Amino acid sequence: MLYIVFLINSAMITVVGNLKGGTGKSTLVFNLAIWLLHKRTRVEVYDLDPQATLSDVAELRSEEGFRPFLSVTGFLPEKSFEQSETLIDIGVSNMGGLYAALARADRIIIPVSPSQADVWSTQRFLHVIRKASKKAQTLYAFINRADTHPAALENAETESALRQLGGLEVLSVRLAQRVIFRRSFSEGLAVFELEPSGKASQELMALAEAVYGAESY
Ligand SMILES: Nc1ncnc2c1ncn2[C@@H]1O[C@H](COP(=O)(O)OP(=O)(O)OP(=O)(O)O)[C@@H](O)[C@H]1O
Ligand SMILES: [Mg+2]
Repeated sequence: MLYIVFLINSAMITVVGNLKGGTGKSTLVFNLAIWLLHKRTRVEVYDLDPQATLSDVAELRSEEGFRPFLSVTGFLPEKSFEQSETLIDIGVSNMGGLYAALARADRIIIPVSPSQADVWSTQRFLHVIRKASKKAQTLYAFINRADTHPAALENAETESALRQLGGLEVLSVRLAQRVIFRRSFSEGLAVFELEPSGKASQELMALAEAVYGAESY
């Protein structure tokens, strides 16, 4: 009997992007990639930013001998992606790369700082996304560097303004402004590797599950 096997390319491409600098794109891509690797998911990671922050942290991680090993590539392949999950870090200093990445994305994650200026910038980024891609995409936004002060209104106000933009899924999970994000990154570790029971670790894992699904991997 003849069996015909269809190979379905189920690679999911996630772009972490934003028109604003310093909103936590590279930090997020790094932590999500390590989270996926710990779940034994095959991940391809691309750093299209000339600053090459992600490539640098991957190199440090490798020099320190931390496992799982993270491999980062500086340019997109012409052909299709091979691994089940692809993560792309991109900023505005490479607009060509940004358009190319957005055109191929299945998911776009936008880290937003809690401020009105960041909401305006997100609105402009949505126009860029619409120009770059005609395919169906899931767009997530979430508050990064959330104010930890209990009386601060900016986090909720920013989320509400983002919801009013439309076309975005605004995640209720936030990453707070915490020194551990900077410290862990500078050591080549994900937050949950450096301080597994810390608040940042819980936040990061909740965000990863909101994007990838708690049971997916
Ligand atoms: N939740 C957080 N709490 C505290 N510091 C953070 C947090 N997220 C990111 N940072 C810090 O903010 C700075 C900018 O983060 P990152 O480099 O990830 O942003 P980026 O969007 O990739 O920047 P760029 O646009 O320059 O590429 C870094 O020093 C990082 O450690
Ligand atoms: Mg960056």
